[in-house]
Amino acid sequence: MNSPVELWLRETNKRKSLASKSECYRIVDKLNLPVDIRIDRLGEVLSFHYFNESPPESEIFEFAETFAKQLNQPHWFLRQMINRGKDPNQKVLWKSPECPELWSAIENEITYIFKLNEGTSPGLFLDQRMRREWVKHHSKDRKVLNLFGYTGGFSLAAVFGGAKKTVTVDAGARYVEWTKQNFEANAFDTAEHEFWTADVLDYLEGAQKREHKFDLIICDPPSFGRSKRGTFKIEKDYEILVDLCSKVMNSKAQLVFSTNFESWKQKDFEKKCQVLAKNLGLHVKEFPSAPTDFNPSLLKTCLFQS
Ligand SMILES: C[S@@+](CC[C@H](N)C(=O)[O-])C[C@H]1O[C@@H](n2cnc3c(N)ncnc32)[C@H](O)[C@@H]1O
Repeated sequence: MNSPVELWLRETNKRKSLASKSECYRIVDKLNLPVDIRIDRLGEVLSFHYFNESPPESEIFEFAETFAKQLNQPHWFLRQMINRGKDPNQKVLWKSPECPELWSAIENEITYIFKLNEGTSPGLFLDQRMRREWVKHHSKDRKVLNLFGYTGGFSLAAVFGGAKKTVTVDAGARYVEWTKQNFEANAFDTAEHEFWTADVLDYLEGAQKREHKFDLIICDPPSFGRSKRGTFKIEKDYEILVDLCSKVMNSKAQLVFSTNFESWKQKDFEKKCQVLAKNLGLHVKEFPSAPTDFNPSLLKTCLFQS
């Protein structure tokens, strides 16, 4: 019987080809050995997401320490993801003694800033790596709109790919600030781009009124979100969202629409997108595949064209 460390190292070996292109990738996804832990490499820091109701025991920390050593990673942190609100002050984050609070790492030539204490994700959703790469290759001389921008990963990919201009929209001021910091970390001039702290639906209504148009839109909403306008829920809001996007697309523009909503299986998602396309006069070009290092992946994507 192989130990968890041996099994997980075998997973790491499978991902060697990713390591040659990027310092950021998923090492272990949902192996349930002995509990559900997902492990990401974010440059010099290993991230352990621990899915369990009870706090981790000492053997989990020993495991993190051993695994990090085996991979020659100087730092690690572990975040407990399931804490059903019993005690909001319960400790959920542990780290190796020298683990930085802020650091940077590269994914496919682009530098991203990571932060330990700004929400449950440290700054980059790794399951969108292939889509960011796609955006980089489809942005040349285009006007690109990144909705639900978070830390601006898609905007950075677009600028790297030669976008004429990017517009990033997120309801969280701290994420918009983080996006600007990521632009600066890559020596991109923030004055040449737009950054809006706004509800996406408000922004799209305003853009439609002002007759702003885009060549490429990335729309990757959370399943559930809050803004000043109220609660965003993908199940109730996806039609109005894609409808508003369709109204600000130039002719032959593309819309990358993604969701991780668990209740929609790939087939349900495809059916909904086909109906939307028919009703809104869009074309479904493709349902791009999910990344292979996420197993199973919840990420579903549709590429629409006007
Ligand atoms: C799933 S993440 C988006 C991930 C991002 N597309 C990426 O790949 O990096 C969710 C983001 O949506 C933002 N958000 C949630 N509801 C929003 C709303 N109604 N309008 C604008 N932004 C919203 C959150 O602040 C958060 O940054």
